[in-house]
Amino acid sequence: MVLRPSEVACATAKVAVVGAGNVGATLAQRLAEKNIADVVLVDVVEGRPQGVALDLMEARGVERHDRIIVGSNDFAATAGANVVVITAGLPRRPGMSRDDLLLTNGKIVLDVTQKVIPHCPGAILIVVTNPLDVMTYVGWQASGLPVNQVMGMAGVLDSARFQTFLAMELGVSIHDINATVLGSHGDLMVPLPRYSTVNGIPIDRFLDADAIARIVQRTRNGGAEVVELLKTGGAYYAPASAVCVMVEAILYNQPRILPVAAYLKGQYQLQDIFMGVPCRLGCQGIESILELDLTESELADLHTSANAVRQNLDKLRQLLADANLKWEG
Ligand code: LAC
Repeated sequence: MVLRPSEVACATAKVAVVGAGNVGATLAQRLAEKNIADVVLVDVVEGRPQGVALDLMEARGVERHDRIIVGSNDFAATAGANVVVITAGLPRRPGMSRDDLLLTNGKIVLDVTQKVIPHCPGAILIVVTNPLDVMTYVGWQASGLPVNQVMGMAGVLDSARFQTFLAMELGVSIHDINATVLGSHGDLMVPLPRYSTVNGIPIDRFLDADAIARIVQRTRNGGAEVVELLKTGGAYYAPASAVCVMVEAILYNQPRILPVAAYLKGQYQLQDIFMGVPCRLGCQGIESILELDLTESELADLHTSANAVRQNLDKLRQLLADANLKWEG
């Protein structure tokens, strides 16, 4: 009996991951090994995406899944992708803030987005490169996609860190913790203790104000704490997990309520900016933005966070104009 590859194409979701560094490679692993989608990894470094893809394919012999992972230096390999994730760009080094990467990563995100989207014009675009909220705006402009199809990953990661530190402090299972972080993915992010619970019980029943403030600060510093330890780059396991859950929600139309960087048109009294807010994600991308009731001080913190994003956005716009780079799609 001769077995040949099937000639009947099955509709398996395809995710294009641009950037085969640690975040991209770990994301590809999560997506494939959780059986969520086939993955094409694209990177400018010759051999890198191919090597990562081959390694992940060889792991299938042990992991026993049938998802296909392909690596390429050619953006044409992304043709027809349902979701595109941009991870390309430089990571932070110790002592750097995410904002120090503004121009370098701005040029990279602009370039790769303009190259990838023509191959998959119907895709949902998720930006992961830092500084996240500004890079998501660049990705949107460079892609020409409708705003509901563009989002940035960070709220899921920041919330996961907040949840982790709460679970560690309280000595309870992570399953019972719900906690949310809004605002920019930076030092001015806005963890919301008032909306954080242990199985529905507000966390201030268990923790005093000092303990909550300490955990909030550790959450804000969560990425930098990993950078300081690793010394050679940023976090990637938790960031990849955060993107994975967003991709899954989109591809399987679950839908989920997750904090992501979304384009605001008046929500939270903010306009023309991408920033972390709770959204309903589904097969259309961002299907709606949820407006939480915030106290005056929470709203003020959110606006402080937004002002920092806006300043960086204006700075980058000027830097790109000076470099004669066009960033509209
Ligand atoms: C972090 C990077 C992904 O927070 O910004 O670890």
